Amino acid sequence: MIGYIFVVLCGLAGSALAKGKVESVPKGKFSVPVLDVKSQQLVLEANQTLTIHCRGRWELSWAFPGGVARDQERMRLEDSRCGRQSQHYCSQLTLSSAQAQHTGSFRCRYTHRTRRQSAVYVYVTDRQRPFVEEQSNSPDVVYMKESQPLLFPCRVTNPDATVSLVKFPDQELTPDQRNIVWNSRQGFLIRSPTYFYIGLFSCKTTVNGTTHSLSYLTHRQVNKIMEVYLNSTSPVLALQGESLSINCTVTAKWNSRVSISWDYPGQANKSAIVSRWIMASTFHMVFYSILSIPKLHRSDKGLYICRVTSGPVSRETNVSVTVYDRPFIRLKPRQGAVVEAHAGQKSYRLSPKLRAFPAPEVIWLKDGKVAAEECSRYHVDGNSLVIRDVAEEDAGKYTILVGIQEHGLYRNLTLSLVVNVSPGIGEKAVSVQDPGSVPRGSRQALHCTSHGVPPPHIAWLWHPCPPKGLVCLCVCVLMRACVRVCVCIYFPQTVGVLMVAEAFVSGVYRCIASSSVGNDELDMPFYITDVPGGFSVSQEDEPREGGDLHLTCVANKHLYTNLSWQRVTDPAEATPPTPSLGGELSSGEFSDTLSLFLCNLTAGDSGSYRCSAHHLLTGQNTHLDTQVDVTVITIIITIVITIIIIIIITIIITIVITIIINIIIIIINTIIIIIIIVISMTHSHIHKQGKTHINILIDALTPDISTQQNCFDEFNGLAIRPFTFYGDNAIHSAPGMYINTHVHTQ
Ligand SMILES: *[C@@H]1O[C@H](CO)[C@@H](O)[C@H](O)[C@H]1NC(C)=O
Ligand SMILES: *[C@@H]1O[C@H](CO)[C@@H](O)[C@H](O)[C@H]1NC(C)=O
Ligand SMILES: *[C@@H]1O[C@H](CO)[C@@H](O)[C@H](O)[C@H]1NC(C)=O
Ligand SMILES: *[C@@H]1O[C@H](CO)[C@@H](O)[C@H](O)[C@H]1NC(C)=O
Ligand SMILES: *[C@@H]1O[C@H](CO)[C@@H](O)[C@H](O)[C@H]1NC(C)=O
Ligand SMILES: *[C@@H]1O[C@H](CO)[C@@H](O)[C@H](O)[C@H]1NC(C)=O
Ligand SMILES: *[C@@H]1O[C@H](CO)[C@@H](O)[C@H](O)[C@H]1NC(C)=O
Ligand SMILES: *[C@@H]1O[C@H](CO)[C@@H](O)[C@H](O)[C@H]1NC(C)=O
Ligand SMILES: *[C@@H]1O[C@H](CO)[C@@H](O)[C@H](O)[C@H]1NC(C)=O
Repeated sequence: MIGYIFVVLCGLAGSALAKGKVESVPKGKFSVPVLDVKSQQLVLEANQTLTIHCRGRWELSWAFPGGVARDQERMRLEDSRCGRQSQHYCSQLTLSSAQAQHTGSFRCRYTHRTRRQSAVYVYVTDRQRPFVEEQSNSPDVVYMKESQPLLFPCRVTNPDATVSLVKFPDQELTPDQRNIVWNSRQGFLIRSPTYFYIGLFSCKTTVNGTTHSLSYLTHRQVNKIMEVYLNSTSPVLALQGESLSINCTVTAKWNSRVSISWDYPGQANKSAIVSRWIMASTFHMVFYSILSIPKLHRSDKGLYICRVTSGPVSRETNVSVTVYDRPFIRLKPRQGAVVEAHAGQKSYRLSPKLRAFPAPEVIWLKDGKVAAEECSRYHVDGNSLVIRDVAEEDAGKYTILVGIQEHGLYRNLTLSLVVNVSPGIGEKAVSVQDPGSVPRGSRQALHCTSHGVPPPHIAWLWHPCPPKGLVCLCVCVLMRACVRVCVCIYFPQTVGVLMVAEAFVSGVYRCIASSSVGNDELDMPFYITDVPGGFSVSQEDEPREGGDLHLTCVANKHLYTNLSWQRVTDPAEATPPTPSLGGELSSGEFSDTLSLFLCNLTAGDSGSYRCSAHHLLTGQNTHLDTQVDVTVITIIITIVITIIIIIIITIIITIVITIIINIIIIIINTIIIIIIIVISMTHSHIHKQGKTHINILIDALTPDISTQQNCFDEFNGLAIRPFTFYGDNAIHSAPGMYINTHVHTQ
């Protein structure tokens, strides 16, 4: 560290000395090379020869003005060891026939540390050429940079030349050594340029009556980069041996100048070719820089950075490039070959791990058929298959086929999709809430059919109805609290059948179907009844006037409540307005009984009696009617006497009428016999033969329609041909409406 500081200090001292008195450097020190030229500047004439000696402690090298570098054949360098023990390095520069354009600073320096140098400024005067640079056809462009001095670089070949600065067309600016500074080695320097310095300027000098000038166009540079982008934002993937081309586009404000450079892995090898384009569009400038590598190597993979600078502004953007040795497909399941989804899920994505290059073609099959064609709910998203609204039938084998045809690479992978379905009990849909009732002591089977994936287990739970309570279902909700009394029977199969050998206890059986994905349950009320259908009414005695009658109404106590007896005047009426008749309620093991006791029956007690009950499960009122007919004793006696009297009177009347009729018949018979005898003695025989025309009178739908012969046509469309009677043998040939048929003989 100390050594370094020392060296730097020495360097500073050395360079200060080099600029000052070169000759006063203590001999043998040579902290900077020493020139044999005693002054800071030399003035030569054109065609003269320049010779400069340089001596130093280490190897030496030279730096020349640009004009010399372009004109090297006139120059000769001779390097040698010198000094008493040749411990020094000497170098002699000879520039033969020096020209005006060789004007500039000649520097001798140490090769290994070029900052240690000694310089001499050489003017090569030429009256024909007062300026070092020659005027080209168009003015040179001088860039004005914000808050930087502006330099018109009109160096001259003669240190004593008088040069003026003229702003176009003819405004001469005189150097004031404050803002406008003249320096024969630099030109005109404007320390703080304003907008005034935008335009066309020229340096003018007059030698022997001839005016020479150099003109400059100042350009105020804008450093406004609008956008920098690569044509590929996503990482670039390529195969070894392929070509790579990246296009960096820069848009910038008008008048901007940008410099675009690239940083890339093969930079040291210069493996890339960079080409540039500029385009001016209506609104801005567009610069393109295209980096291309004709043949990619593995070493070319990495980050490619496009750097853009415009004055103090800089921007960059990058893209990563991956170079693969060969095309590949890597395909494997994400978690095992069996995947699970749930029925009812909004969507499910089948996405195996797939990496491939170049981009492969992907086809999904379901059970060997193209999935997307199988069902509209399937669609391929990237490399994944998405199933919308997962259903049970989506279970199956899904195969992804991955192929890169141009490289003949193919892979496939099959995934088995299991669609889990929560258990559901089939009877639930069928079983209406009214379970009916189970005859006491009967054998019963309860069925519970459950569906689900995986197949559910079925368990049965049972809870007896509380002895006093009415609503059994409510109690069963608390079943978990009374597990002690629950019976659990497990069946491994999906269909559960619970056999109840003898139905004696009312209760609720609960079927629970459960699997790893959920469970379902169904309560099956099991109400034992000792009356058929769970509800009945009966009369115990024969209702007789003055006697007693028991009416009983029996109802299953778990299904019915609110038993009541009522008189019914009109059986069609659903709820008779008559008040409840009361009765005695008793509760048995299975049923409640409401007994109505009617004593000292009268005829007025006859009528309909109704037992009403409220069905607990359906919530509806139901009723049964029974007819009571009280037998009245006095009425029976009256009826019997009346019947006997009627029979006696009938017998007497019958006898009298029979006698009268017989007498009349005898009289008539006698008269007829007398008349026949008289007639048969006076008249001869009547002969009946030949056609008889008859007329039919019809008295059918319309009364008094009397037609002759064919008039039936008008009547109901019936066509009846006239027909003829031969004597008494008339035949009805036409069926029809013959109600009264009279036959008249004409
Ligand atoms: C330098 O020499 C060339 C010929 O070698 C001559 O044409 C030219 O005029 C000379 N220039 C001056 C300034 O003497
Ligand atoms: C100066 O110009 C005159 C004519 O204009 C010419 O005769 C003379 O030689 C010139 N001098 C030099 C040194 O070029
Ligand atoms: C570079 O990319 C730009 C847009 O991204 C495009 O307009 C331009 O033509 C490209 N240049 C070349 C040489 O392809
Ligand atoms: C980027 O531009 C280069 C040069 O025009 C082109 O060869 C290459 O294909 C382009 N890349 C993208 C991704 O457009
Ligand atoms: C340069 O090229 C050589 C051979 O062409 C290669 O071995 C080396 O890895 C390259 N280096 C870089 C940095 O690209
Ligand atoms: C590359 O660009 C991204 C944003 O485009 C940036 O976050 C990242 O730092 C850049 N990387 C390098 C090394 O410049
Ligand atoms: C899947 O790949 C195996 C070999 O890995 C091949 O035998 C089989 O035919 C392929 N199946 C399909 C459908 O391409
Ligand atoms: C049962 O009867 C009582 C009175 O008789 C009545 O308040 C109650 O609402 C009835 N219950 C039902 C469910 O009808
Ligand atoms: C039965 O009714 C009759 C009259 O309706 C009454 O005189 C008699 O006392 C009643 N008998 C009883 C036991 O109520």
